[in-house]
Amino acid sequence: MLLVLESWYPFGGRGHTQEHFGNEVITGLAEKYGKTPAQIILRWHIQDGYITIPGSSNPDHIRENFDIFDFELTDADMESIRALDRQERYENW
Ligand SMILES: NC(=O)c1ccc[n+]([C@@H]2O[C@H](COP(=O)([O-])OP(=O)(O)OC[C@H]3O[C@@H](n4cnc5c(N)ncnc54)[C@H](OP(=O)(O)O)[C@@H]3O)[C@@H](O)[C@H]2O)c1
Repeated sequence: MLLVLESWYPFGGRGHTQEHFGNEVITGLAEKYGKTPAQIILRWHIQDGYITIPGSSNPDHIRENFDIFDFELTDADMESIRALDRQERYENW
């Protein structure tokens, strides 16, 4: 049996996005790959095998969020994002 996790709130959810888009690890990788912080975050999810569900009502952002299949993060870059985990929850259902 294969279980695949769904990642809702991939940017931390509304009210938290700038914190993640402005993170220096994320902005450094965005500069390295010539992508936006949002694309780096989404690519990390997809490359690690998660389904990711970003929310957007902006057509430019929606297009941008699909444009993540023409580059690959290195293992070290994947790990540098994984190391940002703070065991923090934004919602408590
Ligand atoms: N079923 C559940 O249990 C559950 C739980 C949590 C969330 N959800 C759903 O999951 C989805 C995602 O949640 P969310 O929308 O709250 O959080 P999110 O995807 O983490 O963040 C959405 C925010 O990011 C912005 N954004 C999206 N793409 C961007 C880009 N390329 N550049 C800059 N900003 C960008 C959006 O603004 P713009 O609109 O301006 O692009 C919006 O403010 C929603 O559909 C939500 O309803 C479901």
